[in-house]
Formats: sequence, C-alpha cells, structure tokens
Amino acid sequence: MDSPPRPKLFDFHGVSMIRHFTDNWEAVQNFQARPDDILIGTYPKAGTTWVSHILELLYIDEMSPERLNSLPIDVRVPFLELQRIDSGYTGTDLADNLPTSPRVIKTHLPVQFVPNSFWEQNCRMVYVARNAKDNMVSYFHFGRMTFAQPEPGDWNSYFEKFLAGKLVFGSWYDHVNGWWKKKQAYSNLHYMFYEDLVEDTGREIDKLCSLLGLSPSAEEKTRVLNGVKFDNMKNNAMTNYSTYSHMDFKISPFMRKGKVGDWKNHFTVAQNEEFDEDYKKKIDPTLQFRTEI
Ligand code: A3P
Repeated sequence: MDSPPRPKLFDFHGVSMIRHFTDNWEAVQNFQARPDDILIGTYPKAGTTWVSHILELLYIDEMSPERLNSLPIDVRVPFLELQRIDSGYTGTDLADNLPTSPRVIKTHLPVQFVPNSFWEQNCRMVYVARNAKDNMVSYFHFGRMTFAQPEPGDWNSYFEKFLAGKLVFGSWYDHVNGWWKKKQAYSNLHYMFYEDLVEDTGREIDKLCSLLGLSPSAEEKTRVLNGVKFDNMKNNAMTNYSTYSHMDFKISPFMRKGKVGDWKNHFTVAQNEEFDEDYKKKIDPTLQFRTEI
C-alpha cells in the first residue's frame, strides 16, 4: 500500500512550517486563554508528552480519572496550533470545549507566535528544552515514522537540515533561545530540561509543584512518579500514541528510547565536530545543556 503524501515545508514569517500548523492561524492568534490555563511549550521531541502526563497526574481529580483511562493524551491536552487535514480537528476548538480545569494546553510554537491572551492572562507556562543532539535524533526517527511530517531523508541530510533550521517549527536554536530570553522577563514561565527530568524526575516534579502551588502527599507523588515512568507510558495506549494511524510503529515507536546520549549512536566524529563549531555561534551562552548525564 502507498504511504499517504507528506506535507511540504514552507517559510512562514521566517519559520519553517507545514500547513497543519498554519491553516487555523487566525483562530490560534485570537485564542482566549483563561487565567488558570497551563501552557506547555516545547520544540518537538523535547519531552512534551512526558511533562503533559506529569501535569495531568498532578491534577488527576480535576482532570477526571475516567478521561485519563479512556482518551488519548492529545485529546486531553489540546495541541493548540494543530488542524488535522483529514478530520477537521483543531486544537483551538478542543481547548475551547475542554470539560476539565485547569486546562493544560501544549504548543510547539516559537515564543513570538504564542497568542497574546496567554501573556495578558499571566498564564503559567512550562517550557521543556532538550539538548540539541538528542533532540535531533528523536526528531529524525519521528520524521521517519509519521506521515504527518515532511520526508526526513537520510541521517546525513537530516543533520544538515537541523543545523539550517529547515524542520517543522524552525530552528531549534531560535526556539530554545527565544523562550529562554522570555523567561528572564516573564516570571510565570518555568524553564525545564529533559536531562534533569531523566536524572531525577521526583526533584523536577517538586519544582513544578512549587510553580503551580501544589503540595501533593507522599502517596500522590509516588503515584505520579510511577505513572510517568518511561515503561509505564510506553505500555499505556492512552500515552503512547498507538491509537494514531498516521504513525508507523514498525518503523519507530513514539516512545522510542527515552535516554540522554543516544546521539552518540548517530553522530559521526566529523558531524560532532561540525555541530559543536556551529553550536557555539548560535546558542545563547547563558543557556547550558547537558548532552550526557
Ligand atoms: P526518544 O525519541 O529519544 O525516545 P515529545 O513528547 O516532545 O514528542 O518527545 C518525545 C520524546 O520524549 C521521545 O524521545 C520519548 O521517548 C521521550 N519520552 C516520552 N516520555 C518519556 C518518559 N516518561 N521518560 C523518558 N523519556 C520520555
């Protein structure tokens, strides 16, 4: 059977995008945030699903346990800018009609595209960043397995596209730098790192709880920690994206490895040198990532 056609990348106000994320632009820009909304911002493949599920489990009573067990995560945590070409699903409609609160909403938008109402309402935001090398590897495998992404090509050409920022949602460098800069001025933004989450999930959940003003009991915290373990999310059909037909898990599963340092299995020595040289020119020097832990 032929694979469905893949979307084409184009320049959108200086950022590479595909139409799934721009077709509903007016509704996205006019989206009405509520003061208790929690916005998760990430460059794709930085741990969005992980942090979404952590937040859901922290708010389990408000989120409704029945919904957690019966609806896939992207129905519970709307993907703000997504408009599905096939079904007409839009993230904005889904968010507008969400029966639970607070609403947890995810976005991959670069910070300059975040709808104004989120800032006006002083909403809490959680940005998750992942080191560029592992982020690139994860995005490459995602591009291979989902027909909703442009054709990734082979690893070597993908590597060059990443450095040039020619991927959906644009340059990783601009994305992490832009949100980092915003954090300096906007105190309701919590900037987290995927590597810290892998190193000590409990410690990072405690930090999140202090932003959110939550104080879960020891028992509740154990329940959250258990629910968000890689293997448990991988085996949970409501968090592992297995219900989506546009993803081919035979090529690569959505919950793939969940590790820090997998880039070492992909980068050649020459690529690593080229990458490091280029990285120094692009990254905000006050923003520090770990590529191993
Ligand atoms: P890998 O492809 O490196 O395995 P996103 O949700 O932003 O699309 O990010 C997906 C990446 O986060 C994948 O990385 C996935 O395995 C990883 N991930 C998701 N849940 C995780 C968890 N509980 N622990 C560790 N990594 C997780």
